[in-house]
Amino acid sequence: MIGVKGMSRTPLLAGNWKMHKNVKETLGFLDEFIPLAKGISAEVAVFPPFTSLWAAAEKIKGSGIKLGAQNMHWEDSGAFTGEISPAMLKEIPCDYVIIGHSERRQYFAETDETVNRKVKSALEHGIVPVVCVGESLEQREKGETLPVVLSQVEKSLSEIKIENGSQIVFAYEPIWAIGTGKVALPYDAQEVIGAIRRKLAELYGDVAGEIRILYGGSVKPDNIKDLMAQPDIDGALVGGASLDARAFYQIATYDR
Ligand code: 13P
Repeated sequence: MIGVKGMSRTPLLAGNWKMHKNVKETLGFLDEFIPLAKGISAEVAVFPPFTSLWAAAEKIKGSGIKLGAQNMHWEDSGAFTGEISPAMLKEIPCDYVIIGHSERRQYFAETDETVNRKVKSALEHGIVPVVCVGESLEQREKGETLPVVLSQVEKSLSEIKIENGSQIVFAYEPIWAIGTGKVALPYDAQEVIGAIRRKLAELYGDVAGEIRILYGGSVKPDNIKDLMAQPDIDGALVGGASLDARAFYQIATYDR
């Protein structure tokens, strides 16, 4: 059902570690987090840097914690120096891959077109893409938030069929809220995320009610509860606060 957190939308708390934690630090985090994770009813996933994925995958076996990468190329292999393919992520194995994070759009020339190719490729490989969308401060101040975000959503899905809500996740991350300590007001985040769901309903009908849409941008233990109380917010993509096992645990147990 659209706008109601039903059984079909299990909350997802995802930790995007960005360019933090080498292998040793990854294992140290997991040593602390795995015992805590036993008490979490939501789904949790960590997104370490590529170099830590293999070690993390071994470590989390049997824990129920999910694993994701922060980016990928759309081809299976080829002369693409420095890139990582979906087949390589499958081998790890990764459950998720973040696509189109604003830092990649801003610093690494990611475009709506490359996002679309990557989403297609992830779906073909059975890796769940966490597609990131969000407006800049300037765009928000000009009142362009909804057109910008909905255009990113639509372009990311160009020529893509979604038949099952568990195939894809969206993350609404307003750029001005990332790493700034300025979290969006829960109502404002709901407004955008609700609009994303309506766009998904235009494209895919009832399946839109099954697709999880996360909020990201300065999520902390003290603001997660109010965000999760909004009808369309199904979880969070957490940066800084996910680097600390205890803080991430507190976020994932927002329902206590
Ligand atoms: P912060 O939680 O550090 O603001 O980062 C959000 C983010 O970019 C997650 O992808």
